[in-house]
Amino acid sequence: MNKEEIICSCNGVTVGQIEKAVRLGDCTFEDVKERLKVGRQCTKCKDLVSLYIENFRERIEK
Ligand code: FES
Repeated sequence: MNKEEIICSCNGVTVGQIEKAVRLGDCTFEDVKERLKVGRQCTKCKDLVSLYIENFRERIEK
């Protein structure tokens, strides 16, 4: 996984930033949206961001 990959092109948010937000306690898309301003424009990234959040939560909780 490339953590530098931009997942939200509207706001320049990377995979690594999503992971960090989850590590800081964010659990939902809304949490991450609030913290990183992700998904606020076109919202095309919402499903992908949600998927990464789920994925990181599973890994971190194990
Ligand atoms: S790609 Fe995330 S809001 Fe547009």
